[in-house]
Amino acid sequence: MEKTIAVLPGDGIGPEVTEAAVKVLQSIAMRYGHTFHLKQAAIGGTAVDQFENPLPQETIEVCEASDAILLGAVGGSKWDRNPAHLRPEKGLLNIRKHFDLFANIRPVKAIPALLGSSPLKQEVAKEVDMVIVRELTSGLYFGEPKQRSEEAAVDTLVYTRKEIERIVDQAFEIARTRRGKVTSIDKANVLETSKLWREVMEERMTAYPDVEVEHMLVDSAAMKLITDPRAFDVMVTENMFGDILSDEASVITGSLGMLPSASVRSDGFGLYEPVHGSAPDIAGQGKANPSAAILSAAMMLRHSFGLHTEASAIEAAVMGVLDDGYGTGDVMRNGKGIVSTEKFVTKVIEELERE
Ligand code: NAI
Ligand code: MG
Repeated sequence: MEKTIAVLPGDGIGPEVTEAAVKVLQSIAMRYGHTFHLKQAAIGGTAVDQFENPLPQETIEVCEASDAILLGAVGGSKWDRNPAHLRPEKGLLNIRKHFDLFANIRPVKAIPALLGSSPLKQEVAKEVDMVIVRELTSGLYFGEPKQRSEEAAVDTLVYTRKEIERIVDQAFEIARTRRGKVTSIDKANVLETSKLWREVMEERMTAYPDVEVEHMLVDSAAMKLITDPRAFDVMVTENMFGDILSDEASVITGSLGMLPSASVRSDGFGLYEPVHGSAPDIAGQGKANPSAAILSAAMMLRHSFGLHTEASAIEAAVMGVLDDGYGTGDVMRNGKGIVSTEKFVTKVIEELERE
């Protein structure tokens, strides 16, 4: 397979973790006989410094000529006082909008090697393996009017049938490649948007008779994520509910340095990035955990290119290194087995070659 991948390292630890992911992609290309053309471009604070624009036109062009985007992270105190249009985060918001990346996908999977000795974690988090599909470009964060006066403020929650259809279809497609269950989260007992959401869900499910559907109110879901997260396979929900529930779910696995994510649209094009930020406190010290970036690259292979075997091989290699007792400082808290970013990647690649 021949693919072009836009690589946007960004700021802080972004360049360190994307370099790690690129090395893993190169190793996969060699081993499985693929050609990945990797095209680097600037985003975030680095792009502001270089081009006075957090998402320069050149970067958009590189991404438009690519089959998928791999991103590190953006942000840092250096740019915190910049006006809104020159803030690093603006680069991320703009790229999602430009490419209409409406579906945010976050897998949450227990990592046995990191569950430690906490009985609660062993009991509840063991065997958790779920994916949260969050609508990313509509809902309360974007609805108009957005207004305020001295005494009152208004946000608007709007969803169209089309917007709901395309996100629930994403969830159904993902469920088909997994355990075949979708839990749709809403607040249909009080919200009109949720009533429409549930209606659309019921309509679309007829096209996926092989997938089991369950409706759950968002407050119940928040509880169930803590008491019985194993019960979920694919969870699909609107923008704000998904924002909150995905952060809640992310603590189940333990470390921010382990969590990948994807923002995609229906034709398979997508942007893949770690959930974590630019971690300026550890940038440039070889301490960054590259797992989230490496696992994001695996998501890209699976979701945008349909390379399931290669994606699984990467995931198994990362878990293998952790099982062997090696990891960066954020996951190896007892001090034993701590390795640098670079050493960790070398071990992942060795593991890949052994598989
Ligand atoms: P952060 O995720 O960068 O860091 C939070 C804590 O986790 C820090 O102590 C950091 O050292 C640690 N950490 C994060 N990723 C790690 C990794 N891969 N390996 C080891 N340790 C890791 O969040 P924070 O500190 O709130 O934000 C820092 C900057 O990142 C800010 O400018 C923020 O706006 C930006 N940010 C960017 C995001 C993105 O690009 N998608 C997402 C979140 C924050
Ligand atoms: Mg959030």
